[in-house]
Amino acid sequence: MGLGFVAAQVNLRLQHGALDGEPGLSLADVEAAFHGRAGYSIVTSKIDGGSMEKYIPRPSDRGVLFAWVESGASEAEFEAPAEVLDRLCVRCHHPGGEMAGVPFASSRADGASFQLVEPVTAPDGGMSWSALARSSHAHLFGMGTLYALAGLVFLMTDTRPRWKGICVALPFVAMLLDIGCWWLTKLHAGFAVGVVAGGGLLGVAFAALVLRPLWELVTPGRQPDAS
Ligand code: HEC
Repeated sequence: MGLGFVAAQVNLRLQHGALDGEPGLSLADVEAAFHGRAGYSIVTSKIDGGSMEKYIPRPSDRGVLFAWVESGASEAEFEAPAEVLDRLCVRCHHPGGEMAGVPFASSRADGASFQLVEPVTAPDGGMSWSALARSSHAHLFGMGTLYALAGLVFLMTDTRPRWKGICVALPFVAMLLDIGCWWLTKLHAGFAVGVVAGGGLLGVAFAALVLRPLWELVTPGRQPDAS
C-alpha cells in the first residue's frame, strides 16, 4: 500500500510536474492543471511545457502554432498551422489514431481541418468539469478503500485510543480537503494552496498509518498491555 502511494505520487509529478517549465510539482503546476494557464489556449498550453511538447521539438514549429492562435486562429491563416499539424500531430489525432477522441482531421489523408482544430484554440480552462468528476470519483473510492484498510490495521496497534481516532480520521479529512480544493481551484486559482496542503497532510497521515504497524512489527519484546 505504501508503495502504491509512492507510485501515485511519482505519476502525479511526471504528469503535471513540468507544466510551468520548472521540474517538480509547484503551486503553479496545480493551478495550471485545474484552473488552466492565463494567456494560453488549450493547444498552446499542451505544446509549451505540457504533455504534447515532446511531439513538437522544433521551436519554429511551435512558433507557427503560437503565432496563429495569438493572431486569432482564423480560417484564412490556417495553411501554415495545418502543415505543422499534418506533419506532427494528425498521425494520432484522427479517428483511427491513438487520440481519436480529439481528432484534428476527419482522416489522415484529408489532413487537418479548421473546424476540428478550432475547439482546441479556446482559452485553457484547466481540467474539464467531467474529467474533474471522473478523477474525483476514482480517487475517492480508490484512496478511501486504501485508507480504510490501512486504518483497520492501525486500529490493531498499541496506539492510545484518542490517537487512534485522530490518525484513522486524518487521511479522510486530508483527502476531502485535497479533492475539494481541486474543484475550488478550477473556479479560482488561489485554492491551489489547499490542494498542496491537503496533499501534504495526506502524506504525513498515511505515513503514520503505515509506519506505526511496521514499527511495532520490528520492535520486539513489548507486552500486549503496554501503551
Ligand atoms: C503519439 C500520439 C500523439 C501525437 C503525435 C500527438 N498527440 Fe496530442 N494527444 C495524444 C494523447 C494520447 C492525448 C491525451 C493525453 C494528454 O492530454 O496528454 C493528447 C492530447 C492532446 C490535446 C488535449 C486535447 C483535449 O482537449 O483534451 C491537445 C490540444 C493535443 N494533444 C495537441 C497535439 C498537438 C498540437 C500535437 C502535434 C504537435 C499532438 N497533440 C501530437 C496523442 C498524441
